[in-house]
Amino acid sequence: MSTRVAVVTGAGQGIGKATSARLAADGLHVVCADRVAEAAERTAATLRDAGWSATGCAADVSKDSDCIGVAEVAAGLGEVRVLCNIAGISPFSSGIAQVSEELWDRVFAVNVKSVFLMTRACRSHLVAAGDGAVVVNMASVHAFAALPESAPYAASKGAIVALTRQMAVDLAAAGVRVVAVAPGAVDTPSSYTGARGLGADTQELGFVKDPRRLGWLADPDDVAAVVAWLASPQARFVNGTTVVVDGGMLAQLPVGG
Ligand SMILES: NC(=O)c1ccc[n+]([C@@H]2O[C@H](COP(=O)([O-])OP(=O)(O)OC[C@H]3O[C@@H](n4cnc5c(N)ncnc54)[C@H](O)[C@@H]3O)[C@@H](O)[C@H]2O)c1
Repeated sequence: MSTRVAVVTGAGQGIGKATSARLAADGLHVVCADRVAEAAERTAATLRDAGWSATGCAADVSKDSDCIGVAEVAAGLGEVRVLCNIAGISPFSSGIAQVSEELWDRVFAVNVKSVFLMTRACRSHLVAAGDGAVVVNMASVHAFAALPESAPYAASKGAIVALTRQMAVDLAAAGVRVVAVAPGAVDTPSSYTGARGLGADTQELGFVKDPRRLGWLADPDDVAAVVAWLASPQARFVNGTTVVVDGGMLAQLPVGG
């Protein structure tokens, strides 16, 4: 049987790193792609040290040439069955009054255009892999409910929900599923940076590691487990949709204390 390959973007840290480990443990060779070359290689080395199989790959996924390069590396390693578009930036404190055009364009390039570029670059390989190939995109609860002053991020995550649906329709006949995950608050470096941008820390925003609380702060593994399940044949009937993984954050009306 040929090697099953998964491509994970944003693999250098946080949810992308956790997802890389989860897919490697499931027996896939993981191409760990990240804009920060050392971080990509560090994740791959950690997986190899654990006895799994992985390759680090430096790539800025907002650039088409880099996305094509990642796809070529992956195709050279085996059958590309899984693409996880996880790389993203989350600049909060950027409402429509103060966000610059440059920041707006950068958020859309990294968070949305990258999903299109990476999927386009991997498309022929995923189609060749046939039934069972899957693309998992990283949305956010911000696609469904708004925090003040977060316009470009919220709009970019809403676009991922729509793009996921669209790509699922377009790739269905080729046997490729396309799904998304919408996490709530996750314990990653970007969550702390984001909270600081809002003038608070994660605790002050109500994100604590207490599963008895709605919207508790998840571990990256909590999200990675859902991504890995969506990427598996067990989820073969899940397509075109976004799975919310938020510890109940969106379930509660924000009134009544
Ligand atoms: N952390 C959360 O609470 C949370 C919640 C919902 C959604 N998300 C989404 O999950 C994804 C990962 O979030 P995280 O918290 O792990 O982020 P993170 O900042 O901890 O890690 C993101 C990784 O992506 C890489 N990256 C950034 N820009 C890139 C580019 N242009 N090309 C390639 N790699 C790039 C970074 O170098 C980094 O290694 C993002 O799309 C984010 O929007 C995160």
